[in-house]
Amino acid sequence: MKKIIIINGPNLNLLGKREIDIYGKTTLTEIQKLSINKANELNIDLKFYQSNSESEIIELIHKVQTDFDGLIINPAAWTHTSVAILDALNAISQPKIEIHLSNIYNREEFRKKSITSNGVNGIICGFGSLSYILAIEAMNSLLDN
Ligand code: DQA
Repeated sequence: MKKIIIINGPNLNLLGKREIDIYGKTTLTEIQKLSINKANELNIDLKFYQSNSESEIIELIHKVQTDFDGLIINPAAWTHTSVAILDALNAISQPKIEIHLSNIYNREEFRKKSITSNGVNGIICGFGSLSYILAIEAMNSLLDN
């Protein structure tokens, strides 16, 4: 069975309450349920985490090397700032997909640059909670090929 981890960065625990015009009303718990349903359909063992601590996220990324077949990450605000998360992504050899609920390329200038995307196979953004589902499907295909 394929083992995939989804890691969510800072403030994503507030989804459903936070800037709902941009991020929608779906909570992270609901996204987690939708993701686990999709993973079950595809016979994937999926772990789902959120942290507001950069060091915790870096340690979770390190664990991917030994414990998982693939990583899906929404680094949230750290997308645009964190060389440390980029370095962690570059340190692991498994397939990696970056996701965002919003389309970071049609928002403020400072969101148009993703530092972390330099360390992933591809990005999916702009589809709300569907970005998560599309990423699980993409990861499933990457691991099959
Ligand atoms: C986000 C986009 C980021 O720019 C922002 O800081 C977030 C959420 C998204 O999923 O659209 O917190 O990663």
